[in-house]
Amino acid sequence: MNLADSEVVMGILKSNGYEATEDLNKANVVLLNTCSVRDNAEQRIYGRLGNLSELKNKKKDTVIGILGCMAERLREDLIEKKKIVDLVVGPDEYRRLPEFIDTAFAGEKGIGVKLSRTETYEDIIPFREEGISAWLSVMRGCNKFCSFCVVPYTRGRERSRSLSSIVDEVKQLSDRNFREVTLLGQNVNSYNDSGNDFADLLAAAAKVDSNMRIRFTTSHPQDLSDKLLYTIAEHNNICNYIHLPVQSGSNRILELMNRTYTIEHYLGLIDKARKLIPGVSFSTDIISGFPSETFEDHLMTLDVMQKVRYDGAYMFKYSPREGTKAYKMEDDVTEDEKAKRLNDIIELQQSVSYEVNQETIGKEETVLVEGFSRKSDEYFSGRTDTNKVVVFPVASNIKVGDYVNVKINRATSATLFGGIIQVEVLPKAETKLK
Ligand code: 5AD
Ligand code: SF4
Repeated sequence: MNLADSEVVMGILKSNGYEATEDLNKANVVLLNTCSVRDNAEQRIYGRLGNLSELKNKKKDTVIGILGCMAERLREDLIEKKKIVDLVVGPDEYRRLPEFIDTAFAGEKGIGVKLSRTETYEDIIPFREEGISAWLSVMRGCNKFCSFCVVPYTRGRERSRSLSSIVDEVKQLSDRNFREVTLLGQNVNSYNDSGNDFADLLAAAAKVDSNMRIRFTTSHPQDLSDKLLYTIAEHNNICNYIHLPVQSGSNRILELMNRTYTIEHYLGLIDKARKLIPGVSFSTDIISGFPSETFEDHLMTLDVMQKVRYDGAYMFKYSPREGTKAYKMEDDVTEDEKAKRLNDIIELQQSVSYEVNQETIGKEETVLVEGFSRKSDEYFSGRTDTNKVVVFPVASNIKVGDYVNVKINRATSATLFGGIIQVEVLPKAETKLK
């Protein structure tokens, strides 16, 4: 989401005459787009600010700015405590960034932290380098108020972009030869533009270019509708992959988290999705050590992981965030215990991912070629529709942006390896529903 926001910021700055530089020493303005979701994300920014103070000492007129959730959360505090910071601009005030930068160049501090009920930046053309995959924000903010989460406070109330503006942007991306777009929102399932829901949006985006993969994130288990599942099943180019954060396996903890669903409901959804969308893959988010979490609660989380057998998971230690409801609860799981539980969760997920990935051996997967693999220019890397990374040998008739059929011959918990069978002939407009 921050990458997408940074592209919006770059769009705004470019149309005001700014250019990006790869060389920090040449920059007149340095902007850090920040995340407040956990304390370690904020600590990293403090680390960066530490490094930047050297630059600021050398070049006193360099403007240093904090954008995003930390700007929203810490406001003037940040400017008072960190003398090198010249501006703080929250997620809904990016249009005024050129003005704040001018203020900072004039020697005053620029502060813009008002949240908006309507800002979606839908008329701003984000600045994107050429590429294969693009992010596209379809909504901003969140109304869910999960008790651990700072997002509703830092990004404000939920609001949706118009369907037509999103479809237009997907068209532009298709014209530029992007092959994949990920529709983004904190809770995309509550997307609503004058009665058009997220399923309508997905279907409209999918129709733009049958050669273009459509992904989306994040889905809240309370709002994932049957209509959405049918829409995924119906369109070949909507990826068979759902990120569905469970957070905890204990109903008691889910209630304290204000997640508004039970594990039974959640598992029911997974079953339904698997029936309607054969081969669908799932990933999740899990928090270990939420206030009052007992060892039994922890075991319930491991149990759900075993029941669902996620393809992947993002796993975190609970991090108290000031201003949230959970912040008032006693953070009573010791750091040691949180770390141990997180470790159990990571180990279990690795072994499940390993097993799930072994099942792909011998199968053919359609892979969108994204570039060279991280380790070698003799191998390409790409992803399956189900979001698994596949590494395979480079071949002269294949280029980045092609769809290729790869036969998998080996798999780790993170990567599938294989050889090319053929370059896929797309479009594949027929539906997946039989
Ligand atoms: N502590 C730990 N993890 C958190 N997340 C959100 N807030 C917190 C917090 N206070 C995690 C949730 C969410 C993901 C984006 O970040 O799992 O789904
Ligand atoms: Fe945070 Fe919950 Fe909203 Fe996700 S749905 S952004 S976890 S409040």
